Amino acid sequence: MPSEDLRAYSDIVIDHFQHPRNAGPLDDANAVGEDRNPVCGDHMKLMLHIENGAIAEARFQTRGCPAAIATSSMATVMLTDMRIDEAAKLKRQDFVDAVGGLPKAKIHCSVLAAAALKKALAQYREHTSAGPSA
Ligand code: FES
Repeated sequence: MPSEDLRAYSDIVIDHFQHPRNAGPLDDANAVGEDRNPVCGDHMKLMLHIENGAIAEARFQTRGCPAAIATSSMATVMLTDMRIDEAAKLKRQDFVDAVGGLPKAKIHCSVLAAAALKKALAQYREHTSAGPSA
C-alpha cells in the first residue's frame, strides 16, 4: 500500500485504520454485499449474519485507502446488534460522521461501506423475501 500522510485524518480514522475491527471473512454470513470504486479500484466486501431481524455479526474485507478501511471497520461496529430496518436507513454521511469526518477529497471513500451495506441487505431480502422492514 502506498504510504499516505495520515495527518489529514481524525484520530478515529487513524485508530480504525491501524487497528481495524471485525476484519476478515465471516463463514456463516447470510448477507453479503460488495462494492468497488471505479476511479481508484478500491474494493469492500461486507458480510453480515442476520438473525431475527438484527445483525448478529458483521465483518469486512477491504482493499483500499485509510479512509475506506476506517469507514469499513466503523461500519461493522455500528451494524453489530442493529436491527436491519435501522441499518437500511444508514447513509454514507453517517459513516463519515462516525469516524469524526473525512478530508473533502476522501469523502467518496465512504461510499464503499454505504453501497456494500445496501447490497448486502438487498441480497438478504431477496433470499428471505422478508419484506423491507422485517
Ligand atoms: Fe479509493 Fe479511498 S482512495 S476508496
